[in-house]
Amino acid sequence: MSAVLKDVGFVMRPMREADVPAAMRVEKAAYPYPWTEAILRDCLRVGYCCWVLSVPKDIVGYGVMSVAAGECHILNLCVHPEAQGQGFGRRILRRLLAIARSRDADTAFLEVRPSNRSAHALYRLEGFCEVGTRRGYYPREDGREDAVIMALNLG
Ligand SMILES: CC(C)(COP(=O)(O)OP(=O)(O)OC[C@H]1O[C@@H](n2cnc3c(N)ncnc32)[C@H](O)[C@@H]1OP(=O)(O)O)[C@@H](O)C(=O)NCCC(=O)NCCS
Repeated sequence: MSAVLKDVGFVMRPMREADVPAAMRVEKAAYPYPWTEAILRDCLRVGYCCWVLSVPKDIVGYGVMSVAAGECHILNLCVHPEAQGQGFGRRILRRLLAIARSRDADTAFLEVRPSNRSAHALYRLEGFCEVGTRRGYYPREDGREDAVIMALNLG
């Protein structure tokens, strides 16, 4: 994957089953504790909103969201490390939130590690506020790490 992709044509489109292996390569490169392929396939199977940002012949990033009962939950937002810092995470997040609004969601929720500075900064810039904590939510090398719960009013 090229490190600088801003001049390359890219498209955002719904994820397909055939995208799962490429999405898993991004997932494993980006997270110390990645989702399994089975989790990603389940998200597609149950009809969660799964979108990819792709360049010719490759996937740069993707997002997964559930929308129900007037709320959406951003379940995953992931950009390949070599493509980070070029605005792709923000693009994917904004697309998911636009879809949530079109489905009449009025609030968006997500969880993030307090140590995840880039994700936390992105969410704050997009208007998310901290609304709570889930104790010991994430695995960490020396035990568990809390999750910060963030919310955004989509009205
Ligand atoms: C979090 C993540 C999705 C952000 O995607 P990205 O494409 O790198 O982010 P963008 O280029 O769109 O940056 C958007 C904003 O986030 C902030 N940001 C991004 N990277 C940052 C960093 N390393 N340090 C501080 N702020 C950062 C900046 O404020 C940036 O806005 P700006 O460029 O206008 O200043 C990406 O880093 C990633 O996939 N991380 C690994 C997986 C992960 O942690 N996902 C989130 C789970 S909750």
